[in-house]
Amino acid sequence: MFSSKCFFIFSFSLFTLYSCVNRNQQIPLRGIISEKAMVSSAHPLASAIGVEIMKNGGNAIDAAIATHFALAVVYPQAGNIGGGGFAVIRLNNGSINSLDFREKAPALAHRDMYLNADGQLIDLKSTHGHMASGVPGAVDGMFALHQKYGTLTMAELIEPSIEIAQRGYTLTPLATKLLNTKQEEFQKYNRWSTPYQSDHNWEVGDTITQPDLAKTLENIQTNGRNGFYEGIVADQIVAEMQIGEGLVSHADLKNYQSVWRKPITGKYRGHQIISMAPPSSGGIALIQLLQGTEDYPISDWGHNSTKTIHLMAELERRVYADRATFLGDPDYIDVPIDQLLDSAYNQKRYDEISFLKATPSVLVSSGKIPPSESPETTHISVVDANGNAVAITTTLNSSFGNKVMVKGAGFFLNNEMDDFSSKPGSPNQFGLIGGEANAIAPHKRMLSSMTPTIVTYKDKLKMVVGTPGGSTIITSVYQTLLNVIDHGMGMQEAVNAKRVHHQWYPDEIRVETDALTENVQNDLEKLGHQLRITDKIGRMDCILVLPDGRLEGGADPRGDNTALGY
Ligand code: GLY
Repeated sequence: MFSSKCFFIFSFSLFTLYSCVNRNQQIPLRGIISEKAMVSSAHPLASAIGVEIMKNGGNAIDAAIATHFALAVVYPQAGNIGGGGFAVIRLNNGSINSLDFREKAPALAHRDMYLNADGQLIDLKSTHGHMASGVPGAVDGMFALHQKYGTLTMAELIEPSIEIAQRGYTLTPLATKLLNTKQEEFQKYNRWSTPYQSDHNWEVGDTITQPDLAKTLENIQTNGRNGFYEGIVADQIVAEMQIGEGLVSHADLKNYQSVWRKPITGKYRGHQIISMAPPSSGGIALIQLLQGTEDYPISDWGHNSTKTIHLMAELERRVYADRATFLGDPDYIDVPIDQLLDSAYNQKRYDEISFLKATPSVLVSSGKIPPSESPETTHISVVDANGNAVAITTTLNSSFGNKVMVKGAGFFLNNEMDDFSSKPGSPNQFGLIGGEANAIAPHKRMLSSMTPTIVTYKDKLKMVVGTPGGSTIITSVYQTLLNVIDHGMGMQEAVNAKRVHHQWYPDEIRVETDALTENVQNDLEKLGHQLRITDKIGRMDCILVLPDGRLEGGADPRGDNTALGY
């Protein structure tokens, strides 16, 4: 499908176009518009590959798979084959489905594995180095998606990524800056010099080639799922584990299986919301938030007005308290899904909300400590020319996962074990409190906030939405839906709009720089809210179906995110 030479020229010219044109201009309010099909992802090359797959006859799922593998090459901080994620699918016949390819705890994992003899959390053990890694699910997930929905061959979908890994890709300004901040950690957690290390500072336009990763992708291309979970790549992962107290074994890899799950669905102002079920908390929390919003005229109150932000913060602290108590892997605990989605249950909780003052989180429940690590996950939204849609959110957890690149195999491992409650009641790196429901157990999946979401209106596809951002994923998706549905924004405008976030603990509203006027900030403080100004929240990749059937992309200007279509 792609001749190597053509693809290289194509990718090089795309980078040139991207770096010279798009990013030097003011952030546009209107996103790219396409007639038929679109991909929005964290990197222009990955989006371009997805579009090319569809032009060559692939459907939305084919495009998403190819984009996912491409992100593993050009967006290594979150794109991955060493991590996991979730996919939500809606076909043009209205059928919906979702796939859980979340990482799992290794068989040797145990409840107190990150605690010292005094029962205290050991610093960095669940976030850095080999022991932080769960069993990767991403490759199995891509094969499961392909088996059910794919039309092109998996070999065709992986080929462009192999070519980029072999020939190299050029660093954007944001990627360059990020890599230069990670050099010390890469050196500390690797016993060899990975392609992402350099003895000089990386510079914009430098090329990264990844021959080991190319070989691993070839192995997967030739041997299918087993090219990752068995044979040489599995040997390389297990050898890596043995160097640093990691627990992932050959049996863990061989036995990993993705799970098809019934999507979480709900209604909001006549729209149907289709999102991810546990072990992600995303779908349930999103529907709970929307239920609490529906009774209020927030479009009259205004975007980011005092009253709107106060309502959102009050809803969020209650929903995140529920998340901490009730949510975990449904294969291990009974998640009370129906009750949490029950409007009477939510209404009763929300009836306590006062518009005269903030409720201190301590009156909702207990715990604290702010996040310390940048949340790195990534999202792909795709719509094809036949109206099939897929939303995939995938992650290594932190930026570059546990910072360990598997020697010889060329990919970073996740640090998803930190999404468990290592010590129930104590916060994880995102400041999220968890309870027994999310305690570590062998083979269990850790709770997630990933919220890949599809929205329909009058049975027609309307939006495909998702973002990285750790605990802020849910509230970023929530605000983006409100921006379009309540505040009448287009897709790009909704993505550009400044965000805020509350997660119960820490008891504060995180506010993006310039999100709120000084008056609104003062008024919120008078109501009793603590505000913390923060740099960036989320990096959305979204697609909106316009009334005339064309597609508008929403690619987040906070990152290198790019929507492309035809
Ligand atoms: N690792 C972030 C999440 O799954 O929520």
